[in-house]
Amino acid sequence: MTHPLRPWRDTLEELGVVGLVPPPPVVPPAPEPLRAAESPAWEPPKVARPPAPPARPQPVAPVPFMPPTDPVGCPSPEIVAACASLEELEARIQGCKACPLGNHRLRFVFGEGDPKARLMFIGEGPGQEEDLKGRPFVGRAGELLDKMIAAIGLKRSQVYIANVVKCRPPDNRTPTAQEAQRCLGYLHRQIQLVNPGAIVLLGKTPLQELLGITTGITRIRGQWQRLGEIPVMPTFHPAYVLRQYTQEVRAAVWSDLKAAKAWLDKAEPNSTLPPSTENR
Ligand code: URA
Repeated sequence: MTHPLRPWRDTLEELGVVGLVPPPPVVPPAPEPLRAAESPAWEPPKVARPPAPPARPQPVAPVPFMPPTDPVGCPSPEIVAACASLEELEARIQGCKACPLGNHRLRFVFGEGDPKARLMFIGEGPGQEEDLKGRPFVGRAGELLDKMIAAIGLKRSQVYIANVVKCRPPDNRTPTAQEAQRCLGYLHRQIQLVNPGAIVLLGKTPLQELLGITTGITRIRGQWQRLGEIPVMPTFHPAYVLRQYTQEVRAAVWSDLKAAKAWLDKAEPNSTLPPSTENR
């Protein structure tokens, strides 16, 4: 739009009058409205959409415990017989649930010691400490057994120690005949692999389960027996010695261990003759 004073000013200029009237202020042209294409960006920069969180897992109903109907982890006698080393045997049988003890154990207690030991000790079954640690004779009875072994001039690491059953019976009860029988094949293979010069049986359970002798331990202890060609000396279980810590009981165990050691010291490495006759 033309300034209202412009014509008047132009006329004055034509007449030579300059600077009398200040030039009308220059009104800057009104900015043209921005077209849509030139509109400044207003949106926040576009970022890639974050991935959707994974779908919430649906709660799964806990699987009820089903006791095995068939022996589990219990290899056939052929597989046990084919085990060529103690390590292989342990690996094969450590998941065994051939009897109810397998469902209650904390640890499978295979046995331990020198795989070529000349003297082997066999107890009844793991107690609480053994179940916790997975090692035989590591509780109070084990401490006494260590002392008994030391008394005949040997270290625990020089003998081999095993049990009739490899899993702890509840409340340390005596294993049933069925439990013992289920486990016995493992013990037999262990004995074959170690092939000791003599075995000391600790208490009545190994005597009964391994040799089938039901005579009381008090009567039969100290008298050599045989398992195949291996001489076997039955004696009191260290737990019994702890309960009956009398001169008489300790002297009896001492005499039995000395007899076993004397036999080993005298016998040739592969000698298989029992040093005295059986007497049951
Ligand atoms: N009593 C056993 O007969 N064996 C063990 O391993 C421990 C205690």
